[in-house]
Amino acid sequence: MANEKEKQAAGRAAAKLVRDGDVVGLGTGSTAYFAVVALGERVRAGLKIVGIPTSVKTGDLARQLGIPLTTLDETPQIDITLDGADEVDPRLNLIKGGGGALLREKVIATATKNMVVVVDSSKVVSVLGKFPLPIEVISFARTVVENKIVSLGASPKLRTKTDGSPYLTDNGNQILDCSFGQIADPAVLALILSDTPGIVEHGLFIGLAKVALVGRGDAVEEIRR
Ligand code: 5RP
Repeated sequence: MANEKEKQAAGRAAAKLVRDGDVVGLGTGSTAYFAVVALGERVRAGLKIVGIPTSVKTGDLARQLGIPLTTLDETPQIDITLDGADEVDPRLNLIKGGGGALLREKVIATATKNMVVVVDSSKVVSVLGKFPLPIEVISFARTVVENKIVSLGASPKLRTKTDGSPYLTDNGNQILDCSFGQIADPAVLALILSDTPGIVEHGLFIGLAKVALVGRGDAVEEIRR
């Protein structure tokens, strides 16, 4: 429950950073949820924004809350994005994708001027890698990608649904959750993974976040690069 309070505090603090006229990337996950809900409250109080959701689920939530939506085709530049993370290091490198939305999240983060990360205090680490790194793959290439990941010293595990069938992302791809242990050089690993055919996207977000808002106890701390 402590985490829920911290998530809510971080999410609500992030929603306050949004200004009239902004194009806003809407993140996915249980912490981003609080940011989107708080943004919905501001929209109903008169804030004029348009949102671009990072997942089908967040798009549905935003519609329910009355947040007007647009697309990257109509609005390819985003002012601010509020999104969660599975791990945050002191340089604001991230592991994302625990909620399966890493591909759209990275496209949106890359198109964003000010990416704001919202997390509870359990997500802050000195070195990334305790959380298994989500890697989105096309099913055709799964085995060759698994072999590549093993050759890099990690253990890949196919993400499955409760019935045992492969979990599919909003883009129809599968996810390998890859335990690397401590990732000494996330930027180098990110390049290797991005250069591997069959990997659609990986959950290392390097140099994309501008600020992290961390719920800690009753306070919200800020980490900047
Ligand atoms: C979804 C994500 C989420 O932001 C990440 O998994 C954190 O989620 P939560 O706030 O529920 O812990 O990357 O793809």
